[in-house]
Parts: sequence; structure tokens; C-alpha cells
Amino acid sequence: MSSINLQGKVAIVTGASSGVGLATVKALLAAGCSVMGADISPAPDSIQEATTFAFTQGDLTKPESPRALVEACQKKFGDKIDILLNVAGIMDSFASVETVTQAEYERVMAVNLNAPIWLMHEVVKVMKVHKSGAIVNVSSKAGMSGAASGLAYTTSKHGLIGATKSTAWLLKSQGIRCNAICPGAVATNISAGVDPSKYDMQSLAALGPVHALQANAQTGEGVLSPETVANVLLFLASDLSKDINGAVLPVDSGWSVV
Ligand SMILES: NC(=O)c1ccc[n+]([C@@H]2O[C@H](COP(=O)([O-])OP(=O)(O)OC[C@H]3O[C@@H](n4cnc5c(N)ncnc54)[C@H](O)[C@@H]3O)[C@@H](O)[C@H]2O)c1
Repeated sequence: MSSINLQGKVAIVTGASSGVGLATVKALLAAGCSVMGADISPAPDSIQEATTFAFTQGDLTKPESPRALVEACQKKFGDKIDILLNVAGIMDSFASVETVTQAEYERVMAVNLNAPIWLMHEVVKVMKVHKSGAIVNVSSKAGMSGAASGLAYTTSKHGLIGATKSTAWLLKSQGIRCNAICPGAVATNISAGVDPSKYDMQSLAALGPVHALQANAQTGEGVLSPETVANVLLFLASDLSKDINGAVLPVDSGWSVV
């Protein structure tokens, strides 16, 4: 059992089928939380539907998805939603402003920025009724640096930090907190979403020395585990962090100081 107690709380977690989202769902369940997971991919075999876990499969960029997800959560767990963890995300091909395509830019922005915003838009309607809620958005080192990813991913993750800060300030009187985390490289399947033959190799070469300051791509040394990141999400979702609002927290073993 986790030392963070979330008994009686209800959480929505996006990106629940893999990586950080999946580790977070497991950590929340271990802490006694009821969890509605959401993902475009099917629910993972390692988590079964139960009294404290339900799953909604769908593309969160579809205009109807945020409302449908909130309704599914309320149908399963009742009116209250205490926690929203916007974890779902995709990476880009490291394309620069010169090489990015409109299709890649629009998809990355839709998944990494627009979907979390529209889900917050729906969830805060529920949170404000109870004058309480904790939202955490998963940004990235690329949300604070121009030298960690391509233009599309970098822009989306910078934007998510802006959306986090705006929400933190404008909804604090409603009892709603909103924070962001900025992980460094995490051992997940995120790179499987982009065909390596489509990588912008010139940009990647320019990013390589910066990446090497956190982790060794060959040995994996320095790469974070999804569980490490999940623990930080749990803390920011819990009342232990009740006075932290609008924070942008690096989770990268110090990479952010560079
Ligand atoms: N892995 C890293 O190195 C790293 C570093 C910094 C930040 N992040 C961020 O962490 C978050 C989690 O990523 P991860 O590393 O666990 O990757 P992951 O690929 O293991 O998990 C991401 C999940 O998001 C889901 N998803 C993608 N598009 C979706 C959509 N349109 N609708 C619903 N679900 C969708 C995927 O199916 C997947 O299950 C992302 O926001 C990512 O940008 C990851």
C-alpha cells in the first residue's frame, strides 16, 4: 500500500494503457483511489475492470471525447471528480520549423495540447461544484527547452505549461489546483509512435549532445522509470501538495538546470 492515501477519491487518467499513465493508474489504485482510465489503445491486460477501475477507449482529440469521458466517469463513480491527470501524449519526428509538415504539427498539437485543455474544460465544471480538485498536466523537458525535441512537440509542451499556469491562477478561487511536471527521458513506448526513418536526422544530431546530458541512449543509464514519474504525479494529486498550485516541476535528475 502506498504511503499516500487517496481512499474515497476519484481520478481520471489519460494515456492509461502504457508507460507513465499505466504506472500512475497502478499507483493510484494502490493508494485506494477509484480510477477512470482513458486511452486510444485498448486497456492493458495487467489492469482488469473492477469496482475501483474502469476504462474508456477513444481518441481524446475527437470533439466529443472529453464530455463522454467525464460522463463515463460519473456513471461509474458518481458526481465527484477529485483528480485529473493529463498524461496521454505523442512525440514528433524531431522536425524543425524548416522540415515540419502541417499534418505532424496539427496531430501533435491536438494530442499534446488541445486534448488536455478540452478535458480540463469539462472536468473543472465538475470540480468547481465541490470547490476542490487537483489537475496535473504532463509536459516535458521540451516544455522548458528548445533543445530537447522537434518544433511540434516543443511547442505543444510549452503551450501546456501556459495552460497549466492560466488554470492555476484563474481557478484557484474555485479550490482547483493545476500543476505541470516536466520529465526527462522515461523508459516507455513513446518512440514507437514515430517511424525512425522519418526522423529529421539533422535536428536529432543537434539535439544529441543535450540528450546525452541526462541519459545514455545506448546503455539506458539515466533514463527514468515510469514508476518514478508516477510517484510525483501521485504527490501532486494528493492533499500532501495542497498549497502547490501553478508549479512546473522538473522530474529529470537535475537535467533542467542545464
Ligand atoms: N517517455 C519520455 O521520455 C517522456 C519524456 C517527457 C515527457 N513525456 C510525456 O509523458 C506522457 C506519457 O508518455 P509515455 O512516455 O508514457 O508514452 P507512452 O506512449 O507509453 O504512453 C502514452 C499513451 O498515450 C496514449 N495516446 C496517444 N494519443 C492518444 C489519443 N489521441 N487519445 C488517447 N490516448 C492517446 C497512447 O496510446 C499511450 O498509451 C506524454 O505526455 C509524454 O509526452 C514522456
